[in-house]
Amino acid sequence: MAKKTFYITTPIYYPSDKLHIGHSYTTVAADAMARFKRLTGCRVFFLTGTDEHGQKIERRAQAAGKDPQQFVDEIVIWIKKLWQTLDISYDDFIRTTEPRHQKAVQKIVQKFYEQGDIYKAKYEGWYCTPCEAFWTERQLQEGCCPDCQRPVELVAEESYFFKMSKYVDRLVEHLEKHPDFIQPTARKNEMINNFIKPGLEDLCISRTTFRWGIPVPFDPDHVIYVWLDALTNYITALGYMSDDDHLFQTFWPANVQLIGKEIVRFHTIYWPIFLMALGLELPEKVFGHGWLLLDDGKMSKSKGNVIDPEVLVERYGSDAVRYFLLREIPFGADGHFSEEALVQRLNFDLANDLGNLLNRTLAMLKKYFGGKIPVPGTAAAMDEELKKAATELPAKLESLMDQLQFSNALAEIWKFIARANKYIDETMPWALAKKQEEERLRTVMYNLLESIRIISVLLLPFMPQTPARIWRQLGMAEQPEIQTWDSILSFGQLPANLQTVPGEVLFPRLELTGEGGAPVRQATKKDKPAQGKKNPAAGEKAVTEEGLISIDEFARLDLRVAEITAAEAVSGADKLLKLQVDVGGDRRQVVAGIAKHYRPEELVGKRIVFVANLKPAKLRGVLSEGMLLAASDDEGSLVLVTPEAPIKPGSRVK
Ligand code: ME8
Ligand code: MG
Repeated sequence: MAKKTFYITTPIYYPSDKLHIGHSYTTVAADAMARFKRLTGCRVFFLTGTDEHGQKIERRAQAAGKDPQQFVDEIVIWIKKLWQTLDISYDDFIRTTEPRHQKAVQKIVQKFYEQGDIYKAKYEGWYCTPCEAFWTERQLQEGCCPDCQRPVELVAEESYFFKMSKYVDRLVEHLEKHPDFIQPTARKNEMINNFIKPGLEDLCISRTTFRWGIPVPFDPDHVIYVWLDALTNYITALGYMSDDDHLFQTFWPANVQLIGKEIVRFHTIYWPIFLMALGLELPEKVFGHGWLLLDDGKMSKSKGNVIDPEVLVERYGSDAVRYFLLREIPFGADGHFSEEALVQRLNFDLANDLGNLLNRTLAMLKKYFGGKIPVPGTAAAMDEELKKAATELPAKLESLMDQLQFSNALAEIWKFIARANKYIDETMPWALAKKQEEERLRTVMYNLLESIRIISVLLLPFMPQTPARIWRQLGMAEQPEIQTWDSILSFGQLPANLQTVPGEVLFPRLELTGEGGAPVRQATKKDKPAQGKKNPAAGEKAVTEEGLISIDEFARLDLRVAEITAAEAVSGADKLLKLQVDVGGDRRQVVAGIAKHYRPEELVGKRIVFVANLKPAKLRGVLSEGMLLAASDDEGSLVLVTPEAPIKPGSRVK
């Protein structure tokens, strides 16, 4: 049977001397999707590239004292290098200055002209050069571009216009018949209400007052409007209108076109109309994701508040940066970027949950079986539950990925990682070893190793480098047949007797010790996997052999009921709140990481459980003398622990 095909695109980027982490967001997401589809057996074409014409680029080149072509050539080299750094596995990189693209665009415009879709008229209106967008007087907001709020310029010149009005009814019909065409759905309503309902204007598609563009074939004094030029890249890259269009025949229409939300209008109104005019099918889905924001708004070069992805990769590694981007923000929504949040994800999810699972397992295997993968014995009920969780994962992931829910897909994998960690606590291999229950110990260890293998394969699309690092330690680097999607559809494909090689710590923990809370890499030789108290490795003394503490040890905690009397945000730390609490006459100040879950005003008056004898510490320079107890789950919910009925502050909890 022929393989299913899958065509995915990113926008083509304006060459800019620095692309920031916001730009990388689109590309990383598209890459994860492309890799996922390849893993599950599709024939994938993943396209990205650069959008090199237009007034903005011409002006930038002038400002740099360079010829535009030379200007873009230099930047494109750098952009390709960035994508390499981030492990972007594109199949083609199209540049709009390439002859293959320019020729096809001219043919497309010629076709529009010949079929009467284009007419010449005088254009008078407003132009936003940063967005390369035309606006009418009515659409401006306080005289500025409604998309980027920057000043617009008055343009009055002879231009060619495209008859949008001719196709608008068909577009509306398509949107109605294909409710999933524009996603998330809120963006679809915005397009209909703001642009289509008020009456779609014909689009100006040529300019004469600058030269950096593709000449209009039937009137070379005009250059083609940069968005018409740019949008068609998605088909010219496949050889549309060229002598060899087999890729076009194979892959069009696109399955998913990923874009940022500010360019949804171009991709869901003009682009489909151009395709209709060419008599072509429309893409299955156009997904407009949200923005990465910094505390002072959208990251953008002109604001100067950008985060350089190369610096992040240098500091944390490409896999950690990719994991953070895909996990932290639900795809579609805007999200805040902070290095602090990235370090937390790295420490908790990657170092603790994933890293410790591998290290604990391999350390125990070494101790009990000399590192050799054992033959499992008879399964117990507890094992069946673990296996069931594992075998249900691939289908769950496929469904979430088809909806581009990257964050939820990763959350599912991490639920299983948590499940496997819990399996260690439940089965207590150290106790089995002590009691010499050899067969049970073999089964438990095998199940853990097989779970890790399944996790490693599932991670491939998101973190392309980590799986191979895990495979080396599992001793299966040379076994491609157990690194595939098919090999994780049933539990138990990992062969026994492979020799494992416990190796480097996958993700050393980092500490936020720099000035002003800036993260600093603290990875050193002594940065042992067992460092986290939460998941000590086998044989570590942090927890006794049985994993139990004595009543005396528990009694050392001074737990009290306390009442929150005041709460406020901590400036510069969006997760923290500063609280004043009354512990039965004793007043304390505490800093708690609960700002994402509680608003200050809803906390005042609440009675909570308080650790009263915790060593004072400074968090973000603010004194904290104690700790609140809270419960949290894998889905990211967090709730404070409160007394079940009223009881006075200061009461002892034991
Ligand atoms: O728009 N957060 O190119 P571009 C998230 N050439 N995504 C962001 C972002 C942020 N802070 N900043 C930028 C163009 N992006 C056109 C596209 S396609 C035919 C032509 C995303 O370089 C942005 O949303 O300005 C877009 O998807 C991509 O980076 C390229 O933006
Ligand atoms: Mg932009």
